[in-house]
Amino acid sequence: MVRQRMKLLLWHGAACVAMMCAVQAAAAQAVHGGVTEFRNTLMPEPASFTAQPGTFALTPATTFGLSATSDTLLQDALLRAITRLEAMTGVELSKNVVTGGGQALVEINVAHPAEAVQTLDEDESYQLVVQRGSVSLTAPNDLGALHGLQTLLQLVQYGPDGYFLPDVTISDKPRFKWRGLMIDCGRHFEPVPVLLRTLDAMEAVKLNVLHLHLSEDQGFRVESKRFPKLQEMGSDGLYYTQDQIREIVAYAHARGIRVVPEFDIPGHATSWLVGYPELASAPGPYHVERVFGIHDAAMDPTRESTFKFLDEFLGEMTGLFPDAYMHIGGDENKGKQWLANPQIREFMQAHGIKDAAALQVYFNQRMLKILTKYHKHMVGWDEIMTPGLPKDVVVQSWRGAESLAKGAMEGYQGILSAPYYLDAMHTAAWHYLADPIPAGTELTPEQQELILGGEVCMWGEQISPKTIDSRIWPRTAAIAERLWSAATVRDVPDMYRRLAVENVRLDALGMEQISGPERMQRQLTGRQNTTAFKVFTSVIEPVSFGERYNLQHTDQLTPLDGLVDAVIPDPPVRHEMADEVQALLKDAPHFERGRARLERRFKSWEQTSPESALRMKEKPQLAPYAEQAAELAEFGALGTEALHYLDAPNETPNGWRTAALQKIAAAKKEKSLVRFAILDPLEELVSAVPAASAQ
Ligand code: ACM
Repeated sequence: MVRQRMKLLLWHGAACVAMMCAVQAAAAQAVHGGVTEFRNTLMPEPASFTAQPGTFALTPATTFGLSATSDTLLQDALLRAITRLEAMTGVELSKNVVTGGGQALVEINVAHPAEAVQTLDEDESYQLVVQRGSVSLTAPNDLGALHGLQTLLQLVQYGPDGYFLPDVTISDKPRFKWRGLMIDCGRHFEPVPVLLRTLDAMEAVKLNVLHLHLSEDQGFRVESKRFPKLQEMGSDGLYYTQDQIREIVAYAHARGIRVVPEFDIPGHATSWLVGYPELASAPGPYHVERVFGIHDAAMDPTRESTFKFLDEFLGEMTGLFPDAYMHIGGDENKGKQWLANPQIREFMQAHGIKDAAALQVYFNQRMLKILTKYHKHMVGWDEIMTPGLPKDVVVQSWRGAESLAKGAMEGYQGILSAPYYLDAMHTAAWHYLADPIPAGTELTPEQQELILGGEVCMWGEQISPKTIDSRIWPRTAAIAERLWSAATVRDVPDMYRRLAVENVRLDALGMEQISGPERMQRQLTGRQNTTAFKVFTSVIEPVSFGERYNLQHTDQLTPLDGLVDAVIPDPPVRHEMADEVQALLKDAPHFERGRARLERRFKSWEQTSPESALRMKEKPQLAPYAEQAAELAEFGALGTEALHYLDAPNETPNGWRTAALQKIAAAKKEKSLVRFAILDPLEELVSAVPAASAQ
């Protein structure tokens, strides 16, 4: 019989004593299920968590029960979870859910059903206990139960005897109550199925706000029955009907997710002006903008007709979006059109409004009145935080944690977004370590309470329905953990280990972050078997939004199917290779640990890159990258040499290290839409080679 190896996982010191007891109990306990070791793949990490010996087998005899207080939302969620369990295990499970409590092996107990409209302050906590052959999930309401079901799905493991849940005691609740993902559907439209699958993934990692950026210079994306020229003339026919919005909102609600709409005004609003030029501060005509950036067009805040229009429009949208929060954007209006208009200048003078910023404060105050009338809290980007802004407004900070903290010191509630801009193409680790309330914060506990959480931002300039998943996932799962889990959960290697598992789970849920890039790569090569090309694409990543914009001058009509679109940000090779190099260097003077894998990598680069470079030269879309592909062989050779010279420093030729480091530094400066993700670990390896001894 296999002896069960125990690994207890615990995040809160207070429970340490209990852990020791459990370890001793484990040693005495008979083993069942042939389990080897509990492996934590939970993401986000629960607030507190212990694993005990024992397992709950998932078999056709597994029964599911709900408390009498459950509603259809929870019943549907449980049926979805059962279907997922079946997909994960191949075990046919009972869908005859017993209601009333206490009769099933897996019991879900909620004290209250869900609120009709999910609120910011709703309790999201839950407790999940697997022990003595049963599973108990308890929560104050549906929201906690939804989160607990996702944790349960992430607990599934297998052993020689089949699939099981390990015995655990989990007590969980989020650190922040606003854990969002913003999608910019304005610059490029994202069809309904994209949003629905994104909501599935958000549910899996316990995000609870989908913020839709619904209007931009490049597109107006919601059907208005009151002002139909908004979508008819401002959307290229790409917009959500009101029925579709209701579908999205209901789908989100069923998954514990609020939908916060954003109508970006008074700037970034050209698409409104195509059908309604009378809203503008300068005569039209206007057209849907194709070029990105900051445009001059802005709504005229000095005319009552503008506010009458916005009042009626937002009134209509209030009926469509039940959430208590509505976002009015407010970013990046330089006021050029305002100051160029004599009537607007006259208005400013008459009202003692000294500049464009002050005029925007006036505009915001009028908007706040309208939203308050509709029982909505107003949200806006950083720029709305100007003297005189009422304290009831929530500020979404795209300028950084300092700006957010400054807002909190002045009494404003805030949401952090600056470090969560996905189009900056940072690593998951970089995003992960950015905390809405960093260690050593000067905010008082009361001020910290004002930091509601954070939002990942997926801006739309350079994404399409084909690429959005690979930009959002899996990096957003790491940010979701930052927003849910304790501030002390910051172990980057462990995050990457769990992220790799979550990435495959998200793929199974229907996300296209793995399949999408693979399909695009096949389209680019025109071939199905692209082994050599894959070696190249596995070591490169897209450059940042800004670098791409500068090189390509991307606009709304630019095709987004190139190599840069077909490769993923933060490919695993970076952190895997970094781990290998660090293990190797720590193992001095033997340099054995991690070596075999590094050797294999370097060999595969040397062997495949001549072929991929040759084939790429023949394909016009890939030809511009052929030289970069050829360079990979040189990096492979450098790596192989470095390994050799670490063992035999006396053989290192004079000047080898300097030349190698120069080559790496030059590659870092290359002007291309894609960059190598392997240069930092390679540099670390090369730097460890002792400079040649004078010979
Ligand atoms: C923004 O990035 N302008 C909100």
